[in-house]
Amino acid sequence: MVRLVLAVLLVLGYVAAEEDFNCQPSGSFPKTVCYTSKCAVAVKGQIQHELNAAFGYMYMGAYFAQYAVDRPGIAKFLLESATEERSHAIQMLDYLNTRGIKLNIPNYTFNNNQLNTSFVGKTRPYKAALEQALNMEIEVTNLIYNVVKECGEDYHGADVFTNPILDEQHNGVRKLQGAVKTYADLHLNQENDEAAAALAEYIFDLKMLNGQF
Ligand SMILES: *[C@@H]1O[C@H](CO)[C@@H](O)[C@H](O)[C@H]1NC(C)=O
Ligand SMILES: *[C@@H]1O[C@H](CO)[C@@H](O)[C@H](O)[C@H]1NC(C)=O
Repeated sequence: MVRLVLAVLLVLGYVAAEEDFNCQPSGSFPKTVCYTSKCAVAVKGQIQHELNAAFGYMYMGAYFAQYAVDRPGIAKFLLESATEERSHAIQMLDYLNTRGIKLNIPNYTFNNNQLNTSFVGKTRPYKAALEQALNMEIEVTNLIYNVVKECGEDYHGADVFTNPILDEQHNGVRKLQGAVKTYADLHLNQENDEAAAALAEYIFDLKMLNGQF
């Protein structure tokens, strides 16, 4: 009988925890505290997007780091971007942990098809990679706005996702917009002059290596 009562209490506690916005002690342990389920669902989905972006940046960074391509500036920039996206995934995992939300993110399967390798086949892979990185950064930023919206009633959650995460995303977008513009400026009227274009790209890569973006 005692067991039955306990079981019923556990089930009731679980149901209560599923209600939005739940800040009531659930009576069971461990507890989920102060979360909205739509926010938790959005965060779990976003973790996968962040990891996809991290892998995407890593692949692009590895491409430019290999000796046959050897553009250490953009390689450094892309690998740092990968680290940033991965750190966002970790911050989101931390958020889930602060609420006692179980981590059952959709099965993450890394699959080569998720990587956009189209920049490799382009006449100017450097330019294509910068543009692709900018598109990825904007896409992830837009997705985070959705998380902020879903977490709007959760003041602490909205805080975590706006600053640092959203702030860093916008800085990332700004850096890449600047990089695309500077790259274009250096190539002005030199698109058809291979030697001049190669020199412009080399100079641009040195700027990236010096951390100017
Ligand atoms: C996740 O993996 C489990 C076990 O392999 C499987 O039963 C389930 O269908 C998978 N879920 C998704 C969304 O792929
Ligand atoms: C790959 O990146 C290019 C350049 O940003 C973009 O035009 C294209 O739509 C992307 N492809 C996929 C499958 O995301």
